Amino acid sequence: MSSYIIRGGNRLAGEVSVSGSKNAALGIISAAMLLDGPCKIENIPDIADLNVMVEICKALGAQVKRDPDGALTLDPSTITSWEATHDKVRHIRGSYYLLGALLGRFSKASIYMPGGCNFGARPIDQHMKGFEALGATVTIEYGKINVEAQHLHGEHIFLDVVSVGATINIMIAAAKAEGTTVIENAAREPHIVDVANFLNTMGANIRGAGTDVIRITGVQQLPAGATYSIIPDQIEAGTYMLAAALTRGDVTVRNVIPRHMEPLTAKMEEMNISVDTGDDWIRVWMEPERELLAANFKTMPYPGFPTDLQPQTTVLLTTAKGSSKMLENVWENRFQYVDDLKTMGADVMIAGHVAIIAGGSALTGTKVTARDLRAGAAMVLAGLAADGETEVTDINKIERGYENFIKKMRHLGADITRMDS
Ligand code: EPZ
Repeated sequence: MSSYIIRGGNRLAGEVSVSGSKNAALGIISAAMLLDGPCKIENIPDIADLNVMVEICKALGAQVKRDPDGALTLDPSTITSWEATHDKVRHIRGSYYLLGALLGRFSKASIYMPGGCNFGARPIDQHMKGFEALGATVTIEYGKINVEAQHLHGEHIFLDVVSVGATINIMIAAAKAEGTTVIENAAREPHIVDVANFLNTMGANIRGAGTDVIRITGVQQLPAGATYSIIPDQIEAGTYMLAAALTRGDVTVRNVIPRHMEPLTAKMEEMNISVDTGDDWIRVWMEPERELLAANFKTMPYPGFPTDLQPQTTVLLTTAKGSSKMLENVWENRFQYVDDLKTMGADVMIAGHVAIIAGGSALTGTKVTARDLRAGAAMVLAGLAADGETEVTDINKIERGYENFIKKMRHLGADITRMDS
């Protein structure tokens, strides 16, 4: 098991370029398996979760290769199997998008129950509700989800819960269904818009992505043959912006879509953090004479404050002046990392879905672990601000979602090294 060794106290400064969105790429690589021809996808980060996705697609029979420039060329025309039973399906959450793609391609699909970060129950009932509405029968047996339809037809679907995964999965399955599908109470995340734009580039007819009503008019063919570039990763960008504020540094994140970062930049300005924005960059810094102020947060579906920046933000709040509250509205158990943070001297009390954070903590280094992807990133941020040395173990959970993480952090001046046990 590998770990990071971080010596805290350095101010981060300089520029960092944000990679392509992991969560958009998971949906887009899966959606590519629905196409009737090859396609090329650019700005795909070289991270474990996506490399696993490629392995699973190859095991289905698709031809996938990474070009010298990092782009992926995918040709699904050679797919022979509608069963995604590669063992690594269990390792990532995004593999469940193959249900929608293979159902759309073969009118049936079967995959192992998906994996993903463990912060409470991660039900998939809304995905199943959507597939059943389109005419499929759903069974779960021997650890596999099986969906099958005589004939996929458009339907009016009202999601009970705003779900990113269900919205993407149903959108993919409906792209070639006969007639029109309407998804009401759809999630609005930027990566949902990216999957819709990818499918439209390849011949689909999807309107309204990014709003809570998405209309998909089924088409008979998705001829593909085009190239598509993934949007920048909103959560990676936010992680570096928070690291800049936490170390009282001055960092410009490049290759971002500023509008996607507004839920964070708005709160940063509330906290006395200076923010300047250009067409595709955001600069974050602290004026020396200004104090970091406490603030209250509520995680919500986009355009609310993203749950995937909750752990990293909580670390920042431990060093602010005054007491803050972090209300986690999306996941039932996403404060497990607080136990580690407390061993570093943070004063945080958990009351149900709320973390009450007493500011003014002087964090000190110790040995902690990456409990999941974003909690792991939060532990690195805590190490950057802590006095002394921090070891973060189980860092594969971090590197699965952040491309060139240690290289980018070092480029900004972080004293961080990788130790392979
Ligand atoms: C996606 O997970 C992301 N993962 C998560 O990011 C992110 O935290 C989450 O969206 C919310 O933004 C990927 O995109 C691979 P949901 P997903 O379906 O799709 C409930 C990261 O760090 N729900 O939007 O699984 C669910 O319990 C990861 O990159 C149902 O009840 O999330 C939760 O309370 C961690 N039934 C809420 O909806 C369902 O069928 C939102 O879940 C589906 C979801």
